[in-house]
Amino acid sequence: MIEKADVIVIGAGAAGLMCAIEAGKRGRRVIVLDHANKPGKKILMSGGGRCNFTHTHTRPEHFISHNPHFCKSALSRYTPWNFVELVERYRVAYHEKTPGQLFCDNSAKDIVQLLLSESQKYNVTIRMLTKIASIASVGSNEFKLQTSYGAIRCHSLVIATGGLSIPTMGASPFGYQIASQFGLSVWPTRAGLVPLTLHTTDKERLIDLTGIAVQCVVNSQRQSFHDNILFTHRGLSGPAILQISSYWNPGESLNINLLPNMDLLTHLIERQNSEPRKTVKTILTAQLPKNVVETFLSHQYVQKHMHEMRRAELKDIAETFASWRIVPNATEGYRTAEVTLGGVDCGALSSKTMEVLSVPNLYFIGEVVDVTGWLGGFNFQWAWSSGWAAGQVV
Ligand code: FDA
Repeated sequence: MIEKADVIVIGAGAAGLMCAIEAGKRGRRVIVLDHANKPGKKILMSGGGRCNFTHTHTRPEHFISHNPHFCKSALSRYTPWNFVELVERYRVAYHEKTPGQLFCDNSAKDIVQLLLSESQKYNVTIRMLTKIASIASVGSNEFKLQTSYGAIRCHSLVIATGGLSIPTMGASPFGYQIASQFGLSVWPTRAGLVPLTLHTTDKERLIDLTGIAVQCVVNSQRQSFHDNILFTHRGLSGPAILQISSYWNPGESLNINLLPNMDLLTHLIERQNSEPRKTVKTILTAQLPKNVVETFLSHQYVQKHMHEMRRAELKDIAETFASWRIVPNATEGYRTAEVTLGGVDCGALSSKTMEVLSVPNLYFIGEVVDVTGWLGGFNFQWAWSSGWAAGQVV
């Protein structure tokens, strides 16, 4: 006798577990299958082990997609406050780090435990270490899966296999392959929220800055972020760089303002009047780490005093620090990326239910879909919202 379920969810991550819980609440017999050894592995490693589980100011503008409208319906029906309510019901201690960004006080394990408790409460079966060999549609809109534990049939099939980032955590292209098998378009994928590497000459020039963080405004051709950048031995990281990486294409330059909280030229002119005997370097080191000043300030100005500086020279310095143009070499790739851009074309799915328009009872949710959030809890919110939306109907 072949095993039967109402709903099979492939992927025991954030989106898959949320969908399974919601379907379980409706009395559906749900089985979650996953090839990894434990559920919610990315949740466990997220937010530095404290899981930035949502952002209370979530808006559609915080997501990148070829269809920017697609995420609106799910995000408006299952909001950050719905997830906060669940977190509070389980008495998970949390705090707001920067405005809107909510993290666990103790551990990301609290979020996984919450999801597993809810799954158990609604009789969801979770089978780990399960390989799926094939999926076929059979009969009137049913699916048959061949797995390492035998064949299973189901009425609804939900693909929640996430993106390609961190392959060692179980990431695989499975979801994209299933989408292609059923004739859906998949947008090319690339690493997002990822550190950038530099060309050798830039890397050598900046090597002494490794470990230094500076608050900046980083501009690409499409977006701008005001946050820290971190110099690393491979290149640039830190929140502002991770954010801009999702908007950066190879070959493009970034424009970085290392002193975004002032008009540097005006500041230098003022200091020239008030502190003419100080060196340019001293004036700048009051604003930036010494190493940064020494690396960026042109040799010709290092020994000069403020009263010796001509207006054009001050302008030159202001431009160096407020408008640093750098062409990164590449991203660090999926090995360290937090997310995967691109994925299953939203045009193939219902924005209300996540169901494939051309294949009844087949659903795609979470990161496998071409919806990618900014840094700050937005990606989990998309996982919760899209998982919840499918969970109401599967
Ligand atoms: P997710 O990747 O969570 O789950 C997919 C599941 O499918 C996995 O369990 C995997 O094993 C399984 N699977 C894959 N292929 C399979 C196959 N062939 N067969 C069976 N199972 C398969 N976001 C955020 O909002 N706040 C944060 O703090 C962070 N922090 C963070 C840190 C790091 C280091 C990373 C890598 C990522 C984050 N993120 C984040 C992003 C966030 O983790 C991510 O967007 C969500 O986990 C996506 O949820 P999904 O359920 O879609 O996929």
